[in-house]
Amino acid sequence: VQSTRIAVTPGDGIGPEVVAEAVRCLEILRAKHGLALEWTRFPWPSHAWHEENGESWPSDALEQLKQYDAILLGALGDPGPMDDPDRYLLPDSISLAPLLDMRKGFDQWVCERPARLLDGARQYLADERAKNIDMLVIRENSEGEYVSQGGRLRQGTPDEVATQMEVFTRKATDRIIRYGFEQARRRAEERVRDGRTRSFRTLDGKTCESQVCLVTKRNALRYWGDMYTEAFEAISKEYPDVATHHELVDAACMKFVQAPWAFDVVVASNLQGDILTDLAAVLSGGMGVAPSCNLNPTDSNMPSMFEPTHGSAPDIAGQGLADPTAMLFTTARMLEWLGRKDPTLAAAGKELFDAVAADLAENAGTQRGTHEIGQAICKRLEA
Ligand code: IPM
Ligand code: MN
Repeated sequence: VQSTRIAVTPGDGIGPEVVAEAVRCLEILRAKHGLALEWTRFPWPSHAWHEENGESWPSDALEQLKQYDAILLGALGDPGPMDDPDRYLLPDSISLAPLLDMRKGFDQWVCERPARLLDGARQYLADERAKNIDMLVIRENSEGEYVSQGGRLRQGTPDEVATQMEVFTRKATDRIIRYGFEQARRRAEERVRDGRTRSFRTLDGKTCESQVCLVTKRNALRYWGDMYTEAFEAISKEYPDVATHHELVDAACMKFVQAPWAFDVVVASNLQGDILTDLAAVLSGGMGVAPSCNLNPTDSNMPSMFEPTHGSAPDIAGQGLADPTAMLFTTARMLEWLGRKDPTLAAAGKELFDAVAADLAENAGTQRGTHEIGQAICKRLEA
């Protein structure tokens, strides 16, 4: 088989530290199974690159990255030293732009953020039922509140007005909702296979193995809300085996805390999905364990991008304190995704996921450093 090629972009802050552990796991898996896998490390996008070149990445960055099958990203964003005004970047010039440029440039229209409270992960909710938290939040990743259209009028006067437009297309709406239903089915099959069945009730009293919950704010934002609802109702007819549910985003936040175990697949808009997934990350053990990925499921010439939900955490960077677990789960998901072309990679992804989950389960509540956790997982993979 032709080698699968990964662009590794460690980025800023704790990014390089957690990526180092991911690369060590990849090395072990490659040697152990003779995987046809290669990777190239890029020093950008990053603050360091910015300091040297005055921009976060080279102008042909997207063209370079497009040559790869996937991008493994650590974290972006570093303000630089606060005590050195020449090197400190004001918050609005901290360049997170490459992240959004990659999502847009490679049309990574799905952001998948699973939130499952695994054994050993920190349980923030006291309720016993929290152990059953197992949801997948699917965030629309291509448009909505992130279209970056609008502007500032009469800037510098007391009458200034800022406008920020939201754009929702029917095509992007249909595809994200359909993707949600497909994932619900896939998860149902997996649960049945693993003997972890669940049941969700439909309005007419039928019981289903899976559910999709659509999140909107249709009581206030009517145009978008109505179109999302209409698309949801139409597409749900193709999936009679999947229960449906609709929540307003404010109520969804409340229910994420009150009864998060009642959710399965959740489909949300770009910004609302962004907000809900920070909450969902905490429900499933915190930022240290929350994986994420930005996928283009429709065009195999476009690389998907895999980055944990967490940021660059400059406050703990360089100290070996960051938990690499989220990065390693994200890496496992990347291998699984790449396994669509090369099944040996999917098997390696499953192996990595199991090793990280087993490590988490065995070390509940212990204080360990970045490398210590990475090392323990490497040992498991080598065994
Ligand atoms: C995320 C982040 C980004 C987003 C920021 C850094 C632009 O919060 O990936 O969730 O809002 O999408
Ligand atoms: Mn976010």
